[in-house]
Amino acid sequence: MSQDFSWLQSRWIPIIGWFKSIQLELRTYLNEVLEHLLLFLIFYIILCLLLYLLIMQWKLLSFRKDVKVTPKRVLFVIAHPDDECMFFGPTVLNFTRRPGCLVYLMCLSTGKNYGMGTIRKRELYAACKVLGIKEECIIVQNHSYLPDSMSVKWPAEIAAQLILHQVALYDIDTLITFDKHGISRHLNHCSLYFAVAHLSTTKQLPNSCNVYVLESVNIVRKYWLLLDIPISYILSRIRYIATNTDRCLLKRAMQQHQSQYVWFRKLFLRFSRYQMINTLQKMDRQDIELDLELDDD
Ligand SMILES: *[C@@H]1O[C@H](CO)[C@@H](O)[C@H](O)[C@H]1NC(C)=O
Ligand SMILES: *[C@@H]1O[C@H](CO)[C@@H](O)[C@H](O)[C@H]1NC(C)=O
Repeated sequence: MSQDFSWLQSRWIPIIGWFKSIQLELRTYLNEVLEHLLLFLIFYIILCLLLYLLIMQWKLLSFRKDVKVTPKRVLFVIAHPDDECMFFGPTVLNFTRRPGCLVYLMCLSTGKNYGMGTIRKRELYAACKVLGIKEECIIVQNHSYLPDSMSVKWPAEIAAQLILHQVALYDIDTLITFDKHGISRHLNHCSLYFAVAHLSTTKQLPNSCNVYVLESVNIVRKYWLLLDIPISYILSRIRYIATNTDRCLLKRAMQQHQSQYVWFRKLFLRFSRYQMINTLQKMDRQDIELDLELDDD
Protein backbone atom coordinates (compact mmCIF):
# COMPACT_ATOMS: atom_id res chain seq x y z
CA MET A 1 0.00 0.00 0.00
CA SER A 2 2.67 2.47 1.08
CA GLN A 3 4.59 1.72 -2.11
CA ASP A 4 1.50 2.57 -4.20
CA PHE A 5 1.12 5.79 -2.29
CA SER A 6 4.69 6.97 -2.91
CA TRP A 7 4.23 6.15 -6.57
CA LEU A 8 1.15 8.32 -6.66
CA GLN A 9 2.93 11.08 -4.81
CA SER A 10 5.86 11.06 -7.20
CA ARG A 11 3.42 11.41 -10.11
CA TRP A 12 1.35 14.19 -8.55
CA ILE A 13 3.98 16.40 -6.99
CA PRO A 14 5.32 17.73 -10.30
CA ILE A 15 1.81 18.41 -11.52
CA ILE A 16 0.92 20.28 -8.38
CA GLY A 17 4.15 22.21 -8.63
CA TRP A 18 3.37 23.04 -12.23
CA PHE A 19 -0.07 24.31 -11.25
CA LYS A 20 1.42 26.41 -8.51
CA SER A 21 3.94 28.02 -10.83
CA ILE A 22 1.21 28.76 -13.39
CA GLN A 23 -0.91 30.29 -10.68
CA LEU A 24 1.96 32.45 -9.56
CA GLU A 25 2.71 33.53 -13.11
CA LEU A 26 -0.93 34.37 -13.72
CA ARG A 27 -1.11 36.41 -10.57
CA THR A 28 2.01 38.37 -11.43
CA TYR A 29 0.64 38.91 -14.93
CA LEU A 30 -2.73 40.14 -13.65
CA ASN A 31 -1.01 42.43 -11.19
CA GLU A 32 1.01 43.89 -14.02
CA VAL A 33 -2.06 44.39 -16.18
CA LEU A 34 -3.89 46.10 -13.35
CA GLU A 35 -0.91 48.28 -12.66
CA HIS A 36 -0.76 49.32 -16.31
CA LEU A 37 -4.47 50.01 -16.41
CA LEU A 38 -4.23 52.14 -13.32
CA LEU A 39 -1.27 54.04 -14.73
CA PHE A 40 -3.13 54.56 -17.97
CA LEU A 41 -6.20 55.84 -16.13
CA ILE A 42 -4.14 58.27 -14.07
CA PHE A 43 -2.36 59.43 -17.21
CA TYR A 44 -5.68 59.86 -19.00
CA ILE A 45 -7.25 61.85 -16.18
CA ILE A 46 -4.20 64.12 -16.01
CA LEU A 47 -4.37 64.58 -19.78
CA CYS A 48 -8.05 65.53 -19.54
CA LEU A 49 -7.44 68.01 -16.74
CA LEU A 50 -4.56 69.53 -18.67
CA LEU A 51 -6.68 69.80 -21.82
CA TYR A 52 -9.49 71.32 -19.79
CA LEU A 53 -7.16 73.97 -18.38
CA LEU A 54 -5.58 74.62 -21.79
CA ILE A 55 -8.99 75.06 -23.36
CA MET A 56 -11.09 76.73 -20.69
CA GLN A 57 -8.67 78.44 -18.34
CA TRP A 58 -5.62 79.46 -20.31
CA LYS A 59 -7.38 79.54 -23.69
CA LEU A 60 -4.27 78.29 -25.44
CA LEU A 61 -6.11 75.58 -27.31
CA SER A 62 -9.41 75.79 -29.09
CA PHE A 63 -11.78 72.90 -28.63
CA ARG A 64 -14.52 74.50 -30.66
CA LYS A 65 -14.83 73.82 -34.33
CA ASP A 66 -17.56 75.59 -36.17
CA VAL A 67 -20.00 74.62 -38.89
CA LYS A 68 -18.63 75.52 -42.32
CA VAL A 69 -21.24 77.96 -43.59
CA THR A 70 -21.91 80.98 -41.39
CA PRO A 71 -25.39 80.41 -39.96
CA LYS A 72 -27.83 83.27 -40.15
CA ARG A 73 -31.18 81.61 -39.54
CA VAL A 74 -30.89 78.55 -37.38
CA LEU A 75 -33.70 76.14 -36.49
CA PHE A 76 -33.36 73.70 -33.64
CA VAL A 77 -35.90 70.89 -33.94
CA ILE A 78 -36.61 69.10 -30.66
CA ALA A 79 -39.20 66.60 -29.51
CA HIS A 80 -40.10 67.76 -25.98
CA PRO A 81 -39.84 70.94 -23.93
CA ASP A 82 -36.51 70.61 -22.00
CA ASP A 83 -34.57 68.82 -24.80
CA GLU A 84 -33.04 72.20 -25.62
CA CYS A 85 -31.47 72.41 -22.13
CA MET A 86 -30.80 68.73 -21.56
CA PHE A 87 -28.96 68.06 -24.81
CA PHE A 88 -28.43 71.05 -27.09
CA GLY A 89 -27.27 73.62 -24.48
CA PRO A 90 -23.68 74.31 -25.58
CA THR A 91 -24.74 74.65 -29.23
CA VAL A 92 -27.79 76.82 -28.50
CA LEU A 93 -25.71 79.21 -26.40
CA ASN A 94 -23.08 79.50 -29.11
CA PHE A 95 -25.65 80.36 -31.76
CA THR A 96 -27.82 82.72 -29.71
CA ARG A 97 -24.76 84.84 -28.91
CA ARG A 98 -23.57 85.28 -32.47
CA PRO A 99 -24.16 88.68 -33.90
CA GLY A 100 -26.39 88.50 -36.95
CA CYS A 101 -27.70 85.03 -36.19
CA LEU A 102 -31.36 84.41 -35.49
CA VAL A 103 -32.21 81.23 -33.58
CA TYR A 104 -35.58 79.51 -33.92
CA LEU A 105 -36.72 76.59 -31.84
CA MET A 106 -39.36 74.12 -32.92
CA CYS A 107 -40.74 71.67 -30.40
CA LEU A 108 -42.93 68.92 -31.85
CA SER A 109 -44.84 67.99 -28.71
CA THR A 110 -45.98 69.66 -25.53
CA GLY A 111 -45.20 66.74 -23.27
CA LYS A 112 -48.79 65.70 -22.90
CA ASN A 113 -47.49 62.39 -21.58
CA TYR A 114 -48.03 63.57 -18.03
CA GLY A 115 -51.12 65.62 -18.82
CA MET A 116 -49.50 68.99 -18.38
CA GLY A 117 -48.93 70.30 -21.86
CA THR A 118 -49.79 73.89 -20.99
CA ILE A 119 -47.42 73.96 -18.03
CA ARG A 120 -44.56 72.51 -20.01
CA LYS A 121 -45.13 74.92 -22.84
CA ARG A 122 -44.93 77.84 -20.42
CA GLU A 123 -41.75 76.37 -18.93
CA LEU A 124 -40.23 76.09 -22.40
CA TYR A 125 -40.79 79.79 -23.04
CA ALA A 126 -39.15 80.68 -19.73
CA ALA A 127 -36.16 78.43 -20.42
CA CYS A 128 -35.73 79.88 -23.91
CA LYS A 129 -35.67 83.35 -22.44
CA VAL A 130 -32.69 82.34 -20.31
CA LEU A 131 -30.97 80.78 -23.34
CA GLY A 132 -31.54 83.88 -25.44
CA ILE A 133 -34.15 82.58 -27.85
CA LYS A 134 -36.79 85.19 -28.62
CA GLU A 135 -40.41 84.43 -27.81
CA GLU A 136 -41.53 85.00 -31.39
CA CYS A 137 -38.96 82.46 -32.56
CA ILE A 138 -40.46 79.57 -30.61
CA ILE A 139 -42.81 77.17 -32.37
CA VAL A 140 -44.61 74.56 -30.31
CA GLN A 141 -46.68 71.89 -32.04
CA ASN A 142 -49.54 70.04 -30.44
CA HIS A 143 -50.38 67.29 -32.89
CA SER A 144 -52.43 64.22 -31.96
CA TYR A 145 -50.26 61.99 -34.21
CA LEU A 146 -47.11 63.11 -32.42
CA PRO A 147 -47.67 62.10 -28.80
CA ASP A 148 -44.96 62.41 -26.17
CA SER A 149 -44.15 58.77 -25.57
CA MET A 150 -41.02 56.63 -25.36
CA SER A 151 -42.69 53.87 -27.31
CA VAL A 152 -44.28 55.78 -30.17
CA LYS A 153 -42.46 56.30 -33.43
CA TRP A 154 -43.87 59.43 -34.98
CA PRO A 155 -45.04 59.14 -38.60
CA ALA A 156 -42.13 60.59 -40.61
CA GLU A 157 -44.34 62.19 -43.24
CA ILE A 158 -46.35 64.28 -40.75
CA ALA A 159 -43.35 65.42 -38.74
CA ALA A 160 -41.46 66.12 -41.98
CA GLN A 161 -44.19 68.39 -43.36
CA LEU A 162 -44.43 70.35 -40.10
CA ILE A 163 -40.67 70.88 -40.12
CA LEU A 164 -40.55 71.76 -43.81
CA HIS A 165 -43.22 74.38 -43.32
CA GLN A 166 -41.07 76.22 -40.74
CA VAL A 167 -37.92 75.86 -42.84
CA ALA A 168 -39.67 77.53 -45.77
CA LEU A 169 -41.45 80.13 -43.66
CA TYR A 170 -38.31 81.39 -41.94
CA ASP A 171 -35.87 80.72 -44.79
CA ILE A 172 -33.75 78.52 -42.51
CA ASP A 173 -30.12 77.94 -43.54
CA THR A 174 -29.06 75.71 -40.65
CA LEU A 175 -31.23 72.98 -39.18
CA ILE A 176 -30.12 71.11 -36.09
CA THR A 177 -31.78 68.03 -34.64
CA PHE A 178 -31.08 64.60 -33.09
CA ASP A 179 -29.15 61.86 -34.87
CA LYS A 180 -30.61 58.43 -35.58
CA HIS A 181 -29.83 57.18 -32.06
CA GLY A 182 -31.66 60.10 -30.47
CA ILE A 183 -29.28 60.35 -27.46
CA SER A 184 -30.98 57.58 -25.52
CA ARG A 185 -32.79 55.82 -28.37
CA HIS A 186 -35.96 57.65 -27.35
CA LEU A 187 -38.26 56.91 -30.29
CA ASN A 188 -39.60 60.48 -30.44
CA HIS A 189 -36.05 61.78 -30.80
CA CYS A 190 -35.17 59.25 -33.48
CA SER A 191 -38.36 60.12 -35.37
CA LEU A 192 -37.10 63.65 -35.86
CA TYR A 193 -33.95 62.35 -37.52
CA PHE A 194 -35.96 60.13 -39.85
CA ALA A 195 -38.36 62.96 -40.66
CA VAL A 196 -35.52 65.30 -41.64
CA ALA A 197 -33.72 62.46 -43.44
CA HIS A 198 -36.90 61.88 -45.42
CA LEU A 199 -37.00 65.55 -46.41
CA SER A 200 -33.38 65.39 -47.45
CA THR A 201 -33.56 62.24 -49.60
CA THR A 202 -36.75 63.32 -51.32
CA LYS A 203 -34.99 66.63 -52.06
CA GLN A 204 -37.80 68.65 -50.50
CA LEU A 205 -35.37 70.55 -48.33
CA PRO A 206 -33.95 73.64 -50.07
CA ASN A 207 -30.28 73.31 -51.07
CA SER A 208 -29.47 76.36 -48.99
CA CYS A 209 -30.50 74.53 -45.82
CA ASN A 210 -27.66 72.61 -44.14
CA VAL A 211 -28.67 69.90 -41.70
CA TYR A 212 -26.61 68.96 -38.67
CA VAL A 213 -27.36 66.23 -36.17
CA LEU A 214 -26.30 66.05 -32.54
CA GLU A 215 -24.04 63.03 -32.09
CA SER A 216 -25.21 60.46 -29.57
CA VAL A 217 -22.45 58.85 -27.55
CA ASN A 218 -22.39 55.57 -25.63
CA ILE A 219 -23.38 55.42 -21.99
CA VAL A 220 -19.79 55.49 -20.68
CA ARG A 221 -18.92 58.63 -22.60
CA LYS A 222 -22.28 60.14 -21.79
CA TYR A 223 -21.51 60.44 -18.08
CA TRP A 224 -17.77 61.11 -18.26
CA LEU A 225 -18.15 64.84 -18.43
CA LEU A 226 -14.72 66.35 -18.96
CA LEU A 227 -13.07 62.98 -19.45
CA ASP A 228 -14.72 62.97 -22.87
CA ILE A 229 -12.77 65.98 -24.13
CA PRO A 230 -9.96 64.05 -25.88
CA ILE A 231 -12.30 61.50 -27.46
CA SER A 232 -14.68 64.15 -28.79
CA TYR A 233 -11.73 66.14 -30.02
CA ILE A 234 -10.39 63.24 -32.02
CA LEU A 235 -13.64 61.79 -33.30
CA SER A 236 -15.78 64.81 -34.13
CA ARG A 237 -15.41 67.56 -36.66
CA ILE A 238 -17.96 70.07 -35.32
CA ARG A 239 -17.65 70.77 -31.63
CA TYR A 240 -19.05 73.20 -29.08
CA ILE A 241 -18.08 73.47 -25.45
CA ALA A 242 -19.76 75.30 -22.59
CA THR A 243 -17.69 77.36 -20.19
CA ASN A 244 -18.35 77.31 -16.45
CA THR A 245 -20.49 80.42 -16.77
CA ASP A 246 -22.41 78.78 -19.60
CA ARG A 247 -23.05 75.75 -17.45
CA CYS A 248 -24.54 77.91 -14.70
CA LEU A 249 -26.76 79.51 -17.30
CA LEU A 250 -27.82 76.11 -18.64
CA LYS A 251 -28.66 75.04 -15.12
CA ARG A 252 -30.77 78.15 -14.65
CA ALA A 253 -32.53 77.45 -17.94
CA MET A 254 -33.23 73.89 -16.86
CA GLN A 255 -34.63 75.11 -13.55
CA GLN A 256 -37.36 76.86 -15.54
CA HIS A 257 -38.64 73.39 -16.38
CA GLN A 258 -39.97 73.12 -12.83
CA SER A 259 -42.20 70.13 -13.54
CA GLN A 260 -39.23 68.18 -14.93
CA TYR A 261 -36.59 69.29 -12.48
CA VAL A 262 -36.62 66.17 -10.31
CA TRP A 263 -33.71 64.49 -8.53
CA PHE A 264 -32.72 62.02 -11.25
CA ARG A 265 -32.61 64.74 -13.87
CA LYS A 266 -30.53 66.92 -11.57
CA LEU A 267 -28.15 63.98 -11.24
CA PHE A 268 -28.13 63.48 -15.00
CA LEU A 269 -27.34 67.12 -15.54
CA ARG A 270 -24.54 67.05 -13.01
CA PHE A 271 -22.59 64.41 -14.93
CA SER A 272 -23.96 64.62 -18.42
CA ARG A 273 -21.47 65.34 -21.15
CA TYR A 274 -24.19 67.18 -23.10
CA GLN A 275 -24.11 69.95 -20.48
CA MET A 276 -20.58 70.68 -21.52
CA ILE A 277 -19.82 69.21 -24.92
CA ASN A 278 -21.90 69.02 -28.08
CA THR A 279 -20.52 67.42 -31.20
CA LEU A 280 -22.43 67.64 -34.45
CA GLN A 281 -22.32 65.86 -37.73
CA LYS A 282 -23.42 67.13 -41.09
CA MET A 283 -26.23 65.05 -42.46
CA ASP A 284 -24.95 63.13 -45.42
CA ARG A 285 -27.36 62.01 -48.12
CA GLN A 286 -25.59 58.70 -48.74
CA ASP A 287 -25.55 57.77 -45.07
CA ILE A 288 -29.21 58.48 -44.67
CA GLU A 289 -30.27 56.43 -47.65
CA LEU A 290 -28.76 53.46 -45.86
CA ASP A 291 -30.41 54.44 -42.57
CA LEU A 292 -33.80 54.80 -44.23
CA GLU A 293 -33.50 51.33 -45.73
CA LEU A 294 -32.71 49.96 -42.30
CA ASP A 295 -35.58 51.88 -40.80
CA ASP A 296 -38.02 50.30 -43.24
CA ASP A 297 -37.02 46.79 -42.12
C1 LIG B 1 -19.07 79.68 -31.27
O1 LIG B 1 -18.21 78.65 -31.69
C2 LIG B 1 -17.22 79.05 -32.63
C3 LIG B 1 -16.43 77.86 -33.03
O2 LIG B 1 -17.13 76.70 -33.03
C4 LIG B 1 -16.33 80.09 -32.02
O3 LIG B 1 -15.38 80.53 -32.96
C5 LIG B 1 -17.16 81.25 -31.55
O4 LIG B 1 -16.35 82.17 -30.86
C6 LIG B 1 -18.27 80.79 -30.64
N1 LIG B 1 -19.11 81.91 -30.37
C7 LIG B 1 -19.58 82.20 -29.17
C8 LIG B 1 -20.36 83.43 -29.09
O5 LIG B 1 -19.37 81.47 -28.21
C1 LIG C 1 -53.34 70.31 -27.35
O1 LIG C 1 -54.51 69.95 -28.04
C2 LIG C 1 -55.48 69.34 -27.23
C3 LIG C 1 -56.67 68.99 -28.11
O2 LIG C 1 -56.26 68.31 -29.24
C4 LIG C 1 -55.90 70.30 -26.12
O3 LIG C 1 -56.83 69.67 -25.27
C5 LIG C 1 -54.67 70.71 -25.33
O4 LIG C 1 -55.03 71.67 -24.35
C6 LIG C 1 -53.62 71.29 -26.23
N1 LIG C 1 -52.43 71.54 -25.45
C7 LIG C 1 -51.76 72.69 -25.52
C8 LIG C 1 -50.58 72.80 -24.66
O5 LIG C 1 -52.08 73.59 -26.25
